[in-house]
Formats: sequence, structure tokens, C-alpha cells
Amino acid sequence: MPRILPYGDESVREAAAALRAGEPVAFATETVYGLGARTLDEAAIERIYALKGRPSDNPLIAHVLDVPQARTVSGRWDRRSLRAAAALWPGPLTMILPRAAAVPRAACGGLDTIAVRSPVHPLARCLLYAVNDAISAPSANRSGEVSPTSAEHVAHDYPEVPGLIVLDGGPCRVGIESTVVDLCESKPVVRRLGSVSIEQLVNVLGPVEVDIAHAQGASPGSARRHYSPRTRSLLLDRAALEESISRERSAGYRVAAVVLSRLGVDADHVTALPAEGDACAAALYDALRRADAASCDVIVIERPARTDGIWAAIQDRLERATA
Ligand code: TXA
Ligand code: MG
Repeated sequence: MPRILPYGDESVREAAAALRAGEPVAFATETVYGLGARTLDEAAIERIYALKGRPSDNPLIAHVLDVPQARTVSGRWDRRSLRAAAALWPGPLTMILPRAAAVPRAACGGLDTIAVRSPVHPLARCLLYAVNDAISAPSANRSGEVSPTSAEHVAHDYPEVPGLIVLDGGPCRVGIESTVVDLCESKPVVRRLGSVSIEQLVNVLGPVEVDIAHAQGASPGSARRHYSPRTRSLLLDRAALEESISRERSAGYRVAAVVLSRLGVDADHVTALPAEGDACAAALYDALRRADAASCDVIVIERPARTDGIWAAIQDRLERATA
């Protein structure tokens, strides 16, 4: 089993030593838990791909303390990227920038660009400070499955990795992955929706394009099916939800429901999501994992009625989870 270590000076020191020795370390960020290796350590990066079962052409996000540390992995910082960092770092914003020559290609899925983000979670920041190097970390789930928002989720996903250190920073405050903006194009392109909104980006960067469909293999966050429970899953409008639950149950199937409002019919397992957007995002992956663990034949998820702000990112994750 992995080793869940409580957040403290000693566990951060131990985790930093493990990273310097080329061992993977899972750690809390404000978005989701990451599975990290030093960005410049090619062998350790390859272990991360192997542990996740992630295709080698899917690039990783390098986590950094600040712009000076980011400069060790991304060479060219123009006024746009500096402005975005000044306004939105540390926080759940990932910027795609040109890759510095020192970074192994393997850390970026073979691309000449690198995704960089400065997390705001104090545990992630202490770890970055202790390692004094960028840490590449994809979400700490098996490739294609539901991201982890607690240390227990990570331990559950890697039962066969004895001694894997999981630094426990509590439940993730944001709960869905960072917004990804590509600053290598003439106009900024949003590649993944997250809690940093399009409006916030436009305020800082001016007009942006949004291209999240982008089915290129090199974008795991944009694979059509992703963030998925193992159980067959359906995303349904409120109007179709109860009928579907009744139909599935009368066909003899056990149904787990993930809902935003009170159900008028029985289901075999029910998880309620908060009706407020930020709280819903924070609870989302734990709800999907609970529904998946309920040993049902089908998961039926209520589609949120709203699509503004954080709801757009929630809708995006739910659509991919059920694709
Ligand atoms: O919130 C987050 O970003 C979390 C935490 C741990 O920081 N990390 C995360 O990593 O979500 P991952 O590997 O699950 O997702 C990486 C995303 C993918 O959508 C990938 O396509 C994009 O970042 N990405 C990374 N490098 C890229 C690059 N060079 N060009 C285009 N997209 C890139
Ligand atoms: Mg991921």
C-alpha cells in the first residue's frame, strides 16, 4: 500500500528526498492530487508515465513556485505570459509556453512546448520549496479514470505501489483540474476549462479562443472519454433522470444516482452534489468515485441546468466522464 503522510515539515522533507532520489511522490494541490517527479529527471518522468499507464505522447504539467523557477523549464516569457502570471499565479491556471532546452522531451510528450503552473496549495508550495526544482505532475489517477481529490483516492488507485508517498493536504478546495491556456499561438487559446474563467483570462489577456474539442492524442484532458468511472455512466437532464432510473431498475439493473436535486424515485445508491457551483466542483470527483464503488450496473448523473462560469467546466468533465 502507499504511505499517506500527514502534512508537516518532516513529511515534506522526506518527500523532497524521495523526489531527489528519483522516486515518485503524490501530493495535494488546490485542484486535484498530482503524481510528481522532478521535471529534469528523465528516468523518474518515465516512471510516472508507466505508473499511470499514460500514453508517452501525453504531455505533463510542470509545477513551479514562481516565475523565476518557471524560467528553468520554459525559456521564453513574453509580456502576455508575465501578465497572466502576475494576475493569476499562484493558482489553478496552466500556461503552455516554449520548452527550455534543459527539459527532457519525455516530460512534454515529445513537444517543443511545456505546460507550467504555480499551485497555491501550501503543501505543494512547501514541497516545491524543499525540492528547489520544478515538479512535473499529472493528476494522480490511472490514465482515463476519475481524478483524485483526497489522499485516500490516490492510495485507492495505486494499491500495488508499496511505499509510494502520498502527502496528505486534505480534500482539494477547487476539485477539478486547472484551466489550460496556450500562449504559443498568436492569440491565447484555452485548451481546458477550469475554475479560472474565460472572463478572468479575457480581463488579463484580451480576446482568447477556446478550443477544448481538440481531439489530438497529445491532450489527455481533451480526449473525448476521460475522467470516467468504470461503471457504465449516463448524463441526463433533470426531466429524463427519474424515468431512466425507473426504467433501468425495472430491467433488473442496480442504479447509482448522482444528483443536484431531490429524487422523486428510489435508486440503489444516491450521492447528492451541492447546488452551488464551486462547492459542486469540489465534491464532483468524490461523488463519481462513491457512485463507482457502490457496485451498481449503471451510474445516472443529473446534468446541471447552468453552463455559466464554473458550470461550463463541470459540464465538460461530466460529458467526458460519460462519453
Ligand atoms: O490542476 C491540474 O492541472 C492538475 C494538478 C495536479 O496540477 N494536473 C493535471 O495534469 O490535470 P494532467 O496531466 O492530468 O493534465 C494535463 C493537461 C492535459 O489536458 C494536457 O493536454 C495539457 O495539460 N498539456 C500539458 N502539456 C501540454 C502541452 N505542451 N501542450 C498542450 N497541452 C498540454
Ligand atoms: Mg488528468
